[in-house]
Amino acid sequence: MFTNLTHNKIAVIGAGNVGSTTAYALMISGIASEIVLIDIDKDKAMGEAMDLNHGTAFVKPVIVKHGDYSDCQEASIIIITAGANQKPGETRLDLLGRNIKIYKDIIPNTIKYNDKAIYIIVTNPVDILTYVTWKMSGLPVSRVIGSGTVLDTSRFRYLISQQCGIAARNVHAYIIGEHGDTEVPIWSLSNIVGIGIDEYCLNYCRNCDRKINKEEIFFKVKNAAYEIIEKKGATYYAVGLAIRRIVEGILRDENSIMTVSSVMQGYYGVHGIALSLPSVINRKGVSAVLELPLTQQEQQAFYNSGERLKKLLMDAGG
Ligand code: LAC
Repeated sequence: MFTNLTHNKIAVIGAGNVGSTTAYALMISGIASEIVLIDIDKDKAMGEAMDLNHGTAFVKPVIVKHGDYSDCQEASIIIITAGANQKPGETRLDLLGRNIKIYKDIIPNTIKYNDKAIYIIVTNPVDILTYVTWKMSGLPVSRVIGSGTVLDTSRFRYLISQQCGIAARNVHAYIIGEHGDTEVPIWSLSNIVGIGIDEYCLNYCRNCDRKINKEEIFFKVKNAAYEIIEKKGATYYAVGLAIRRIVEGILRDENSIMTVSSVMQGYYGVHGIALSLPSVINRKGVSAVLELPLTQQEQQAFYNSGERLKKLLMDAGG
């Protein structure tokens, strides 16, 4: 009898801009064999599934369905994008009160049907909601993953690549901490072909004027979402691709390093919150977190990022 070798079913909770773009990115990747869209607005989920299904002739075979929480059964991965998103002038942290309430409904309803999946949290403030999901679900730390600063790290690498005239995939540079205003650029470990970014720009760069504009680059990374939201009302393409990248790392058992958010286990003295650090991603989820030799200033900024989120979580009664 033919056994179903790798039926990769993925549930996406929230069929808004981010959820539907994520489903679209997963469809194009060919990594999922089944995608279920779940939304409180059933017509929205149905409409997005219909629209996606009409493109199945152009991609690898995949089943796209709309459903309800019971359809989370047997999913390998459950992605949660549902909740209020930033409006112009709002910070991610401004969404905390509304979205914790939504998660207090979603998490018990998904865990009821599936406590074996790896959960990917995307809703903002993603680090606090990753921690809240871990607490509410009782799942192991390794299987509650926040999209965290995976997107910020991609923005960071893109902007450095533009200044240095080198492909982003050859720029090794990471953003850690909060996916938000207290995030931390690890300039001390940023490199191109193993050469520190300052030395690279001084001695090898053909594109920048021998010095990289760190302040400008980090300002653009940290404020990217605000700028895009002002212009087009929301962000969804890059974050959808970031989620797809995390899913690929899991389902392909890659052992890839990504700055996902997970519940801190005392790294740099941080406990009691989720933050992003370079982590090894494979079929188990977060299989290791790398505590790298940061400068004292970077470590302090990371610690402060955690303290700020912990205070907000406490103020919210979390
Ligand atoms: C952004 C959203 C995903 O940074 O927080 O675009």
